[in-house]
Amino acid sequence: MPLRVRLTLWYGSALALVLIIFSVILYAITARSLRDTVDESLEETAMTAVRSLEARGFLPLIDEEELLSQFPELTRIDKFFQIFTPSGTITIRSPNIKQHEVPLSRTALEASFTGQSTFESAKYPKEPPLRLISVPIMYRGNLLYIVQVGTSMESVGETLHRFLVLLVIAIPIALAVSLAGGWFLAGRALRPVDKITLAAQRIAAGDLSQRLSMPPAHDEIGRLAATFNNMIGRLDTSFRQIRQFTSDASHELRTPLTVMKGETDLILRRPRPIEDYKTVLESNLEEIDRMTRIVDELLFLSRADMGEVKVESLPVALEALVEDVHRQATLLGHDRDIEVVLGTIMPVIVQGDDLRLRELLLNLVENAMKYSHPGGKVEISLLKEGQEARLSITDHGIGIAPADHKKIFHRFFRTDVARAHTKKGTGLGLAICSWIADLHKGRVEVKSDLGQGSTFTVVLPLAPLQLSKV
Ligand SMILES: Nc1ncnc2c1ncn2[C@@H]1O[C@H](COP(=O)(O)OP(=O)(O)OP(=O)(O)O)[C@@H](O)[C@H]1O
Ligand SMILES: [Mg+2]
Repeated sequence: MPLRVRLTLWYGSALALVLIIFSVILYAITARSLRDTVDESLEETAMTAVRSLEARGFLPLIDEEELLSQFPELTRIDKFFQIFTPSGTITIRSPNIKQHEVPLSRTALEASFTGQSTFESAKYPKEPPLRLISVPIMYRGNLLYIVQVGTSMESVGETLHRFLVLLVIAIPIALAVSLAGGWFLAGRALRPVDKITLAAQRIAAGDLSQRLSMPPAHDEIGRLAATFNNMIGRLDTSFRQIRQFTSDASHELRTPLTVMKGETDLILRRPRPIEDYKTVLESNLEEIDRMTRIVDELLFLSRADMGEVKVESLPVALEALVEDVHRQATLLGHDRDIEVVLGTIMPVIVQGDDLRLRELLLNLVENAMKYSHPGGKVEISLLKEGQEARLSITDHGIGIAPADHKKIFHRFFRTDVARAHTKKGTGLGLAICSWIADLHKGRVEVKSDLGQGSTFTVVLPLAPLQLSKV
């Protein structure tokens, strides 16, 4: 059942219940107070009658003429009047009662002997009910007469009936009007939800560029729309990245495959000396190595994404690590005519995984060497600044345009300058570096400009042990 219908039904039932309870109570109170008014007026009349009788010294009244002159209020047609003897026989009655007998009830008679007045209702077929009061007249502890005054409840009944009709007509109307109002309001409140649903359907159909138009109010729906847009934005970005990644990955793997296929095709076209086969196989092996590296790195990154890579969290002396890498790099630098020197090296201990940090540093030093010009110089320095270790690798090579500073950390991204400079490289090294830095709650900063050389700085928090010492 749609939410709109459900909301309206809930609202309608609650309102109907309230209206009915309210009406029943109102009806009961009205009926009660109307009857009380009748009773009061009956009592008043009866008392007047009793007082007049007392004034006459309780002499029995003889005829109607006299009676009416004594009690002018009896002429009011809505009340009748009877006087009974203690034995229950009528001594006198007002003329407007003559249509039928209204005998004194047993309860009224019994109550009269104890000196109490009685209110009663009496019903005769095909007539409106009567309301009666019976008041005893006592003289020196003896019951002399019983005065009974009665009136028809017709007008009260009519009033109540009209009231009931009014309620029966008004309640459904009020209910219908407010149900319509509720339906309208629920529809209005839920309209943005429909919009969100439609947009979500379009998005589900593959159009991730869709965004919800934001309602101006900062209410629940506004927040929902904002969250939704935010989510779609992120989905859009990651889908784009995945698509980009897949095409990049296939492209990277295709190149060595094309090379291998071309060379193999060519060599198989006709018989050749054994050396030629050897050359091709060696070249193929190189390509296979390259592909193996790419696949290994991809595998590592995807396992890292899934959180499946185990990392240690132990104190690591960075200066020792830097010295190791420096030694390794110096050897490599010999072949390429690149000098690797150490700048300021402070003793620094960070918390983390020695092997991963070594990999991070080696990647950066390799890059620095790879993108340096022959005869260039690469400098490694390690500083402690506040609560952070700053490990910098500076080269004077090809540099990176500021627009690419973010992109170089994306998988497979290589600048055109870098591609022109060297064929070697897949563009995965820095992605791995930034993953390792993240894992150590650190970051990799880049300072570089085209042709000006680059400085990559790894910023890592110091190990807590050292923090307490400071
Ligand atoms: N020191 C540097 N000087 C200039 N450009 C750099 C430097 N380091 C990185 N880059 C740029 O960033 C890109 C990405 O570097 P990254 O290390 O991820 O890949 P790569 O070195 O090309 O390949 P590999 O996966 O083999 O490391 C490089 O292709 C290059 O364009
Ligand atoms: Mg690299």
